[in-house]
Amino acid sequence: MADRYLRLAGTAPGRFLTRRVGLPQPAALMRWTAERPSLDGAVVRVVAGEVVAERVGPAEPVDPPVEPYAAVVLDATGIAEVGGLRAVRTSLGPLVRGLARCGRVVVLGAGAGGGAEAGAGPGGRDAAGAGAGDVEQAAVQEALAGFVRSLGKEIGGGRTVQLVRVAPGAALDSTLDFLLSPKSAYVSGQVIEVGPALRQPEVSGRRRTALVTGAARGIGESVAATLAREGAHVACLDVPGSGDALTAVAARLDGTALPLDITASDAGERIAAALDRLGGGLDVLVHNAGITRDRRFTHMDEDRWDAVLDVNLGSVLRTTGYLLKAGVLNDHGRIVATASIAGIAGNAGQTNYAASKAGIIGFVRSLAADPALRERGVTVNAVAPGFIETEMTAAVPFLIREAGRRLNSLGQGGRPVDVAETVAWLAATGSGGVNGQVVRVCGQSLLGA
Ligand code: NAI
Repeated sequence: MADRYLRLAGTAPGRFLTRRVGLPQPAALMRWTAERPSLDGAVVRVVAGEVVAERVGPAEPVDPPVEPYAAVVLDATGIAEVGGLRAVRTSLGPLVRGLARCGRVVVLGAGAGGGAEAGAGPGGRDAAGAGAGDVEQAAVQEALAGFVRSLGKEIGGGRTVQLVRVAPGAALDSTLDFLLSPKSAYVSGQVIEVGPALRQPEVSGRRRTALVTGAARGIGESVAATLAREGAHVACLDVPGSGDALTAVAARLDGTALPLDITASDAGERIAAALDRLGGGLDVLVHNAGITRDRRFTHMDEDRWDAVLDVNLGSVLRTTGYLLKAGVLNDHGRIVATASIAGIAGNAGQTNYAASKAGIIGFVRSLAADPALRERGVTVNAVAPGFIETEMTAAVPFLIREAGRRLNSLGQGGRPVDVAETVAWLAATGSGGVNGQVVRVCGQSLLGA
């Protein structure tokens, strides 16, 4: 659905008018294309006040780096005292002023000892047994999250701000590559933990196989296309009724169409059989299929309740359970499920939907901590989209749709590809240290923030 306001605000008279009356100023976001795969300008890194040029787009580094910068990375992992936070202002302040439109700020904080391990504070310490220094370090490291979320809200111009908590030995490259690229255009205000890779991946030239549910249209279609771009053979699953659309998507991506209702009692067996025909097992499992059946709770009938809980949550638990038990998911497998900011913030009229999506977050956090899966190098993460322009949101009443689009730091809705790029990062072989994370793709929506 066209966002006419975004188009208007992108023109010179529109910019003038919207500024005069104090309306939001959404910037046209720079997204990844094959012709323009990286941000323009210097990526500058600041460690303890010292500024170094890391990379300059596709060109050679220039020292000192020249404005406008494409991105600024502040290493704040060593900050352990309140006084140390001063360096955030003194070293980042001047650089942020020189940041290009659609530029990136990434703050590196101290992370826990390993991905989804619950209860451990920064540096892997447990609050119960912490000394005074540990408590101060935990406090100032948490302060970084408040800083990042606030800067994200005021920085404007399509710029994004994230905190990455880095555990010792973290496999950080794939995460930084994503966050410092146009692929993360609609991700902002996130706190992401990265640990060491659960298991070192064996080097193999084998083509990976991915399964994407709900792939006939919307976000799922874009996820399938993005994983295919990254080299995977994609099995595209959708309801039999999606017929020609599903066949066309699978054909375009040189993938395999799998017409199947994911709520069918034998869905796991049928997916396993289809993957068996392809050979080589499954490397990436993306649970994307989802429905809404909105009603106020007092008018919520059994059909709406059951359908949403079954498609969005029950089928995810059943199929994952079956595929894991049947040994279909390969070592170093990636499971990415689709939550929603409604599952974090709640939403009037969506008790069934929000419950199902919060359930997805519980599923991801619990499964990510499973020792047997960790041992096999299998990661489990979720994306939580905000307002994404699809047929699902086109059906939302006008005023609610406008609010959904504007009530975020980037002042606009996201596109399916924004979610797809995030899924592709989580699904990448290099993302073995990203586990148990719920990454919001919402332009830093005010809902649930
Ligand atoms: P969509 O309605 O455009 O596409 C969903 C796809 O899932 C459709 O092709 C549909 O046929 C398929 N599907 C539904 N039930 C199925 C079943 N029983 N078996 C197999 N396939 C089935 O939705 P959209 O917007 O692309 O959403 C994709 C996912 O993202 C959903 O899980 C949704 O809840 C989630 N999401 C979307 C947001 C948005 O703003 N569009 C916001 C937050 C979450």
